[in-house]
Amino acid sequence: MVKVNHYLFIFSLLFLGGCGSNSDTANGQVEYQDFDSLNLIPYPQQIEKRDGYFELNKSFTIECDEEFSNEKEFLTVLLSNHFTESIKVKDEDNSSTILFSKIDPSTENSEMYELDVSSSQIEIRAVNPQGILHGIQTLRQLFITAFQTGEKREKWYLPALTIKDSPAFQHRGLLLDVCRHFFDKEVVKKYIDALSYYKMNVLHLHLTEDQGWRMPIDKYPLLNEISSWRLDSAGNKYGGFYTKDELKELVDYAEDRYITIIPEIELPGHSQAALAAYPQFSCTGGPIEVVNDWGVFKEIYCAGNDSTFTFIEDILTEVMEIFPSKYIHIGGDEAPKFRWEHCPKCQKRMKDEGLADEHELQSYFIKRIEKFLNDHGRELIGWDEILEGGLSDNAAVQSWRGFEGGMEAARTKHNVIMSPTSHCYLDYGLSSIDLQKIYSFDPIPTELEEAFQSYIIGGEGNMWTEHVPDEAHLDSKVFPRIIALAEVLWTYHPDRNFDDFYRRLQLHYPHLKAVGIKYGLETVGAKLVEEINDSGIFIKLEKNLAYLDLKYRWNQDETYISYTSPIKLEKSGKLHVQAYKNGETYGEPIRQNYVTHQALNKRVTYKTAYNQWYIGNGDLNLVDGKTGSIDFHDGAWQGFWGEDVEVIIDLVDPVHFLGLKVNFYQYANSWIFLPQQVEIETSLDGKVWDEHLIRSNGKPIMTNEKSIKTFEFHNDKYMGMYGRYIRLKATNIGKVPAGHEAEGEDAWLFIDEIIVE
Ligand code: ACM
Ligand code: ZN
Repeated sequence: MVKVNHYLFIFSLLFLGGCGSNSDTANGQVEYQDFDSLNLIPYPQQIEKRDGYFELNKSFTIECDEEFSNEKEFLTVLLSNHFTESIKVKDEDNSSTILFSKIDPSTENSEMYELDVSSSQIEIRAVNPQGILHGIQTLRQLFITAFQTGEKREKWYLPALTIKDSPAFQHRGLLLDVCRHFFDKEVVKKYIDALSYYKMNVLHLHLTEDQGWRMPIDKYPLLNEISSWRLDSAGNKYGGFYTKDELKELVDYAEDRYITIIPEIELPGHSQAALAAYPQFSCTGGPIEVVNDWGVFKEIYCAGNDSTFTFIEDILTEVMEIFPSKYIHIGGDEAPKFRWEHCPKCQKRMKDEGLADEHELQSYFIKRIEKFLNDHGRELIGWDEILEGGLSDNAAVQSWRGFEGGMEAARTKHNVIMSPTSHCYLDYGLSSIDLQKIYSFDPIPTELEEAFQSYIIGGEGNMWTEHVPDEAHLDSKVFPRIIALAEVLWTYHPDRNFDDFYRRLQLHYPHLKAVGIKYGLETVGAKLVEEINDSGIFIKLEKNLAYLDLKYRWNQDETYISYTSPIKLEKSGKLHVQAYKNGETYGEPIRQNYVTHQALNKRVTYKTAYNQWYIGNGDLNLVDGKTGSIDFHDGAWQGFWGEDVEVIIDLVDPVHFLGLKVNFYQYANSWIFLPQQVEIETSLDGKVWDEHLIRSNGKPIMTNEKSIKTFEFHNDKYMGMYGRYIRLKATNIGKVPAGHEAEGEDAWLFIDEIIVE
């Protein structure tokens, strides 16, 4: 995970169950999806309507070559669970035929399939079993909602149509972090099934971390005895690992569904759990503990020690025995160079190898591991940091710090997986990455020259689990957003239409529910936007999806009223905004504190600029009435990185005010510290400054609680203060203090409202 410094309207018909209801026949009602509102996700590349419908009855037969027998078994079991009686052997007079046929493999995308549904039969054609399974997954989605919810019937009907389909990108994945929190093999299987249902083909299993090591290595048993366990926030032992048999079972389970599990074994950083068990492979020799906290940590593998490479190669040997994937992911991200800078062995290695700096030492490290993998017939993937200090020849790059690393790698003809924090981080909240944002993701940046575009082989959704302790929480983060990514990576339609995707998605919720996925919301119901003009501050409530309705109330004891037009800010209080979907509450109410005061909407001049990552409401942020919450990403806080805050407020006319309050944020984990001191001065003309009050803060707070501190200024002698201009200066502590993982880095200072009473 990352530190602070990055950072059609729907017709009501839609919610009625999603099937066209068609004329009665002698057999009762014939129900099937209306061709014009099919719910397929990902949407096929080509689809054509045919006349009529197909009737599937319990005596169906599946005819295919031996090559497709697994798929025949899969579909047989699946369909047989949906009939009121157990299946009979082929009934010559009354059977429904499903054919799987093979297409010439030389002419097609290997994952392609064709699906024909006619009134007489269903046929799926593909070049290989994977394509047949894709066709089966499409076929499943063609049934009506009653099928998706597990209903059993005498007969089912499908709309007649022809589909020709294949993926736009060859690598379509989900990263699952089973280290920060551990998820057992049944959860992983549920995810493999869901990935297959949406035609994804990679499960990137993040198996090693600072906080836990999740696979056995026979040669190094302490990787389970010690490295798999940490202390949770209550001080209890937390952790676990998969046995080798379980991992093989997962690999087989995934392989049956044409999902490749790519294991990630992090190096040289994010390796503190391993070093806790085997500190001889660190720069200091230890002692080192498994990390019980979140962040980036400085204990990394020693690059000067040849035995470190033996250790890692032994591990990778056992990893390759379990995982047959072409690619092995070796991490490579977020490796602080602090230990290497101070390690005689690492420094000697740099000298011996003629390496200019620690980035080149990291490059040396990765290249050495890459050679080992290549010698064993495998290829290496690493996070975009592996570009620093020189990229090895065959390595693939997973771009997470934006698109730039991916573009750089593509331009040097390396394969690239795009998973930028802007669009693909499923651990991020819906306020920054909602369903629509993911649906807008384009793995190929427009700036990338056409000649290099084919090196972008796909993308992944990254599910980091620092703050995801259980399966329900995990489900709610991954779904439904991963479904949007699945369609982007498969269909990759140039004019993709979110509203149509959204309509189809609604019809997938019954399936998700039936398979035990506790999907979450699609977005945060509303955004509060302050419109500030000469006549005041108006709070506009913007809904994030067209089909939501918004209501609001000012305080707990009031009743909600429908929102119609911007609300004028005229009193202090807490605004509650509740979204509704189809009359049901949609998520928790959004709560925002506002405060009215004498500097509201006055001009503020900045002597130091706020950082572009944390701009709040821009130049009016400190006088817009909206106060920052305990979520420092809420858009109300203004951040200054390594710099002081110095602002002057012009109240236009001289004003008598009782006092002044100003809020600052504290969260050591994200390098945000309270100011050393805060000073205010007042002036009548902006030249002569007469009042001067100082509030000092104590020592920097190094614990990892988030808090807000209000600095208050009163001049009791004069019953208040008087002036037209107020100058406020808050002194940044400068550098992150000693004892912190990020010691010596620039510290953040976060300020919000300056309340002039
Ligand atoms: C990452 O999020 N550190 C790859
Ligand atoms: Zn070292």
